[in-house]
Amino acid sequence: MGAYTIALAGKGGTGKTSIAGLTVRYLKERRSGSVLAVDADSNNCLNEALGVEVHATIGNLREDSLKTIREGTDRPGGMSMEQLFDYQVQQSIVESNGFDLMVMGRPEGPGCYCAANNIIRKYSDKLSDQYAYVVIDNEAGMEHLSRRTTHGVDLMLIVSDPTVRGIRTADRINKLVGELALDVKHKVLIINRVSADEGPRLKALAEDLGVRVAGLVPQDEAVFVNDLNGRPIFVLPEEESTAVRGVFTILDGLNLP
Ligand SMILES: Nc1ncnc2c1ncn2[C@@H]1O[C@H](COP(=O)(O)OP(=O)(O)OP(=O)(O)O)[C@@H](O)[C@H]1O
Ligand SMILES: [Mg+2]
Repeated sequence: MGAYTIALAGKGGTGKTSIAGLTVRYLKERRSGSVLAVDADSNNCLNEALGVEVHATIGNLREDSLKTIREGTDRPGGMSMEQLFDYQVQQSIVESNGFDLMVMGRPEGPGCYCAANNIIRKYSDKLSDQYAYVVIDNEAGMEHLSRRTTHGVDLMLIVSDPTVRGIRTADRINKLVGELALDVKHKVLIINRVSADEGPRLKALAEDLGVRVAGLVPQDEAVFVNDLNGRPIFVLPEEESTAVRGVFTILDGLNLP
């Protein structure tokens, strides 16, 4: 049985990474299975939300492996390129307290996006057997959907800011997943950073457009202050933060296995 896979999507700066970090935390605190966090955004910063340091990314490992091949350097134990890379990928996974993290990083050089995509696909399949949950933080926008790296997803969390434009973008993402026939079982919208009474109206708009709304998360000063103090959202106490509680309540309602 493969992992239950949760992927984030949405416009830039809406709170995908924060919510990905909180989802990892929720799974760690409220579920017993192992969790892999995947940072699929080339401007990786999921590790900051999770409070862990990254020493290698799949992007630079691939560069290293290609260099090894180009230079004809001896590979340890006569490993094939494939085996070497497999080994390095396993080595690059950061094991933290209660979850693991894999960082895709920036693919460099010509044609690399496509190679990197194949790598994401291959390893998400492989790793899927080793974990109970996989949480994938994606880059902003819809590129990653068109590149079809998002597949085999059980739950897509589309995140929007509390604006009409944000909801319309979320609607486009929702429809694009359908048009591309991506293998995504459930898609729900989270409207984040709601500060006044715009929440219910935006929710109604989204529902009119046919987007299922999982819930609203308040704009929370505590997140801002925590961030300012250089602390990861992963450690922001639940009782101090309406946003942390908001995300946890939404996840409670989604009946995760
Ligand atoms: N509910 C909230 N209340 C207050 N601040 C928030 C909330 N959610 C997110 N933020 C803040 O908004 C900023 C953007 O959040 P985040 O990085 O999670 O968004 P993102 O969608 O991942 O952005 P990007 O598209 O650049 O990857 C961060 O400074 C974060 O601390
Ligand atoms: Mg992000």
